[in-house]
Amino acid sequence: MTKQMKPSEVFVPGKFPIEEHNIYTDRGAPQESFQTALKRSFVPLVFGSYGVGKSSLSRYCTKGAEKNKKLVYIESVHGKSLADILTRLLEILGYEVTVERQIQTICESGAETGFELQGGILGYLKAKIGGKLSRKRKKLLGTKREVLVKSPTDSRILDLCEDAGLMLLIDEMHRASDILRRDLSAFLKAYANRNHKKFKIGIIGTETDASKIVIRDPGVDRLLQEVHVLPITESESRRIVFEGMKRLDIKVPEEIGIRIIRASVGSPFVAQYICLEMAEKCRERGLDTLTSELLNEALRTYASSKAQRMIHQYRLAIETTGEKRYRQKILHAMALCDDDYVTMEQLVALVSKQMGEVVPSTALSGPLRQLKNEEYGLILTDVSGPSAGSRAFNYSAFTDPAMKSIIRMIEEFGTPDIGSENGGKASSS
Ligand SMILES: Nc1ncnc2c1ncn2[C@@H]1O[C@H](COP(=O)(O)OP(=O)(O)OP(=O)(O)O)[C@@H](O)[C@H]1O
Ligand SMILES: [Mg+2]
Repeated sequence: MTKQMKPSEVFVPGKFPIEEHNIYTDRGAPQESFQTALKRSFVPLVFGSYGVGKSSLSRYCTKGAEKNKKLVYIESVHGKSLADILTRLLEILGYEVTVERQIQTICESGAETGFELQGGILGYLKAKIGGKLSRKRKKLLGTKREVLVKSPTDSRILDLCEDAGLMLLIDEMHRASDILRRDLSAFLKAYANRNHKKFKIGIIGTETDASKIVIRDPGVDRLLQEVHVLPITESESRRIVFEGMKRLDIKVPEEIGIRIIRASVGSPFVAQYICLEMAEKCRERGLDTLTSELLNEALRTYASSKAQRMIHQYRLAIETTGEKRYRQKILHAMALCDDDYVTMEQLVALVSKQMGEVVPSTALSGPLRQLKNEEYGLILTDVSGPSAGSRAFNYSAFTDPAMKSIIRMIEEFGTPDIGSENGGKASSS
């Protein structure tokens, strides 16, 4: 008999589901778009709300490169410069890198004359072939035993990456400094001009608006392919639940499966978390089928150990002295709505239906704006219209789609530990 898999080998909340037995659900259009971009040597620019699976998708699509030790994954660019990123590339290629500093303040054309390291100090990278390099590699790098990289647009480093067929994946680009943003733009332009075939680049950022991630100009634009990752769909989470449990030989009654999917709406992390909890408890108790007690327990555990901050944020957002409680009505309507992005017109219809009276958009615009403010925890965010180029900010979405699931849990399931004082049932109806 084959060895039974552990639940933690299948469900991996908070980790990239890319190891052998991990359950990974295909992401359809954005995943294909990422793969096509790489094939054509375009740069996929992966963007979307918090926790929707951007990094997982990107890592999944670059598994081949990782296997061949060609992947250079920069987890976060927070506090990093382009020189740091290029150093990583050179080190992977087998160079030992030193950063030389020039005490010289930057003139207007700073980006072209060197790397801005800190406070206006320029620097350049000196790279020598490291001692531990294999013979084969040494031979390969032969004539390029020493390289001096003086600017973000230096072609030598691009050539080296092309020869080695590296895949550079830069994550958390929304946290980049202005200097890095500018240097990266110059680097990408140089990359675009050299017609690379084997050296590939991918960029990821948590933003609902792609144009905020990298500096756009015609030279760079031509190269980028926007990959918008949305919260996971019902069928995508269905696969996590049913296929994942199947790998563990745990049966899922249809109605329990549906409740897990509804509870984790949009958030692959919540789906993974609830499934792991349920599967472990199921095994511990020697059961072979999921039950509603297991689900309620898992939801409680999730609420108490993972979602306290969000529950608090939700309560804060809906606290009001006003009679109509519009903020709560808006959040409730958005949480129950199947669309991830809603327009004012949709909101008016949803809230009116909920309240059984016609609510004018003027009554909702104030509370809606508040929900996008710091004071109410930035629970909602503006999203630019899907029609390309239109800069009208008339869509609203949850900043973190896991919030949608928290509100559904509170409003629908009424689990005592999760719900509000009134037993978890919404005061509306
Ligand atoms: N395609 C998928 N299939 C199964 N589980 C997934 C998938 N994508 C993501 N997950 C689960 O969701 C979690 C969060 O995903 P991930 O970190 O990729 O999101 P993200 O969009 O990069 O988040 P952030 O905005 O915080 O950077 C992962 O740790 C994993 O458990
Ligand atoms: Mg990420």
